[in-house]
Amino acid sequence: MINIYDLKSKIDFDNLPKHIAIIMDGNGRWAEKRSLPRNFGHQEGMERVIEIVESASQIGIKYLTLYAFSTENWKRPITEIEGLMKILVLYIRRELDRLHKNNIKLNILGDINKLPEAPRKEVIRAIEKTEHNIKMVLNIALNYGGRDEIIYGIKKYLKDVEVGKITYDDLNADNFSNYLYTKGQPDPDLVIRPSGELRLSNFLLYQIAYSEFYFSNILWPDFKENYLYEAIIDYQNRNRRFGGI
Ligand code: IPE
Ligand code: IPE
Ligand code: MG
Repeated sequence: MINIYDLKSKIDFDNLPKHIAIIMDGNGRWAEKRSLPRNFGHQEGMERVIEIVESASQIGIKYLTLYAFSTENWKRPITEIEGLMKILVLYIRRELDRLHKNNIKLNILGDINKLPEAPRKEVIRAIEKTEHNIKMVLNIALNYGGRDEIIYGIKKYLKDVEVGKITYDDLNADNFSNYLYTKGQPDPDLVIRPSGELRLSNFLLYQIAYSEFYFSNILWPDFKENYLYEAIIDYQNRNRRFGGI
């Protein structure tokens, strides 16, 4: 196997994706393969979150979005949902100081009002503490759905029309982005989905119009930093045309 330094030296630091979005998938299967309860997979997945956040910010990625819980994930058994919420609280308690020290701004994509009180409070505390940080934006997609987000954006836009902030004719494909959770951020250049599934599962539907996709069979709890670098190197060999020639 190629070592991590050789791999890193293959990255073109002048052509980094500004925004990487990851669908963190495969935790359950990782645990099931080891005859462990699914929540062990989520626990191990959290360790990869810590590492990937660190690696991404260290190499100079400006926006990192991690899909942690979808609007459809409420369909799961209550024990699994509770386990995921506990892991979220644990993650913030363990990592908030380090995120802050590393100048990372935490941002949530999704409606956090629907979260139970404990995770909601932790999330708000983390957002407030890291509000002025500028090295990297870490978006955690939580109770997030791409369709929900578009509806949320339309409702916000209609409110602005109502109060005269924008007219009916002013709305266009660019300024509509300002009504989404990713307001002010560049669209993802690279979307990574581990675990072998070839679908989007309601992720960033508006923002991924021209994103590059990278699918990997590695399960998220096995997704060490080398896989992130491999994805970036692959991305750097693509020819992005945005409809041009
Ligand atoms: C983690 O992987 C993603 C979350 C929804 C938290 P999964 O829990 O979906 O794992 P698999 O896909 O069942 O293996
Ligand atoms: C997508 O994974 C959501 C997250 C990673 C949070 P799922 O495991 O929920 O997606 P499906 O059900 O396989 O499409
Ligand atoms: Mg899954």
